[in-house]
Amino acid sequence: VDRELVSPRGEEHSHAPRSPEERGMTIQCDPYATEAEHYGIFRRVIAQKNYDEVLALLKGGDLRGMGGAGFPTFIKWEGARKSPGIEKFVVCNADESEPGTIKDRFILQYLPHMVFEGMMIAGAIVGAQYGYLYIRHEYELQTEVLNEELNRIRALGLLGNNIMGTGIDFDMEVFVSPGGYICGEETALMEAIQGNRSEPRNKPPRTVNSGVWNKPTALNNVETFCHAITILGKGGQWYHDIGQNGSAGIKFVGVTGNVKHPGVFEVPMGISYRELIYGYAGGPLEGREIIGFAPSGPSSGYLPASQLDLALDWDKVKAVGSMLGSGAVVVCDDTSCMLDMALVASRFYRNESCGKCSPCRIGTQKLVDLIENWTQGVNHGGDEKLLKDLSNVLRTASLCGLGQISPAPIQSVQKHFPELMRQHIEDHVCTAGICFSGSTL
Ligand code: NAI
Ligand code: SF4
Repeated sequence: VDRELVSPRGEEHSHAPRSPEERGMTIQCDPYATEAEHYGIFRRVIAQKNYDEVLALLKGGDLRGMGGAGFPTFIKWEGARKSPGIEKFVVCNADESEPGTIKDRFILQYLPHMVFEGMMIAGAIVGAQYGYLYIRHEYELQTEVLNEELNRIRALGLLGNNIMGTGIDFDMEVFVSPGGYICGEETALMEAIQGNRSEPRNKPPRTVNSGVWNKPTALNNVETFCHAITILGKGGQWYHDIGQNGSAGIKFVGVTGNVKHPGVFEVPMGISYRELIYGYAGGPLEGREIIGFAPSGPSSGYLPASQLDLALDWDKVKAVGSMLGSGAVVVCDDTSCMLDMALVASRFYRNESCGKCSPCRIGTQKLVDLIENWTQGVNHGGDEKLLKDLSNVLRTASLCGLGQISPAPIQSVQKHFPELMRQHIEDHVCTAGICFSGSTL
């Protein structure tokens, strides 16, 4: 964290992302030139009630879930709209916690009007009366910015009953997450809002049919609501065409790890990870060499540097066994040990497991034991087979994404860094000098 950072209101804040202007960055996705124009799209949509047209625009722009899963937004909104019931909700998931994910914090701070407007339009389309923006508890500055914006919207007369005489009732609040990685899982999040212990629910039923208070709910990530406004303001064609090399759309990505200029960047989809890491984030530090990277935090697993020309594209990243995810690009240079990275990730999942289901509660600890042994050069006969079986159990029997994804880091290291694995297990050598020293414990 850059301790020198200063918030837009001038107060020192160690966690504030640098403003776009400070970084010489022009935000392209914001369709509004001035503050006075904000919420013009919402006013137009609720006056015309052209909801089918709006959904068709989102479909045409290929807007997908930017929290990581990439699920088509129009299907979700259409699902919640068609789901029977009078009482419905909209939820914005701003509890980003995937290690390396920092892009929502930037959007919340600098584009709060787009996030709220996206929620308000989703509310009108699905017929919801209330929205929750569920935010990570560490994001205090962003919570403040959002509450100020909420007051502004209220003062504009765009929240409450019979908004603009249209008969539409809609209000919102900012809800601070109790804290913890699992509290951002969509159903655990809803339990938290309801005042319960924040643990994932069984699925189905899907959120669109049974979400907050067991009512139909349209739940999306911060960036998804933001880009809905881009598409509705700038047009599906603009959004589609801004992508490069056959990919559609625009994306906020966070680049962290061993680079000269870590931070959040707004980039066209379809550019390569090389362009992102070298062009936007300045490449590795002097004299260092990139050996691997995670396209989206530990959940995506790690890819070797030979894959740097891969394009930022949902399907192309999936085709190499990884995922575009939430765009949390973590870069590792030759001072990192990829096996140690997998160990750190597995400890993270073990620590964050809510313990509700036994495959994950017990399996993540077993995963840690196994990898710890490998980092110390200990390999009991059959460890590879044990990892395979354990991974199968975790992926198929865990209740939620945390357990399911927990084997991804070590499996990716096994697949893409076999020589490094061999060096540890057979030669008892860690070229980065991290393992065998006790420093990873
Ligand atoms: P999922 O694939 O089960 O669901 C994704 C979304 O689509 C959910 O909102 C789900 O309700 C909805 N959905 C799925 N099928 C549907 C259907 N037939 N009809 C209507 N809606 C449907 O994924 P999950 O477990 O919700 O999220 C996993 C993703 O979250 C991973 O890609 C991971 O990268 C990401 N993630 C992001 C984090 C962050 O900090 N941004 C933290 C942890 C995970
Ligand atoms: Fe909890 Fe893990 Fe089960 Fe998810 S998979 S419900 S985090 S124990």
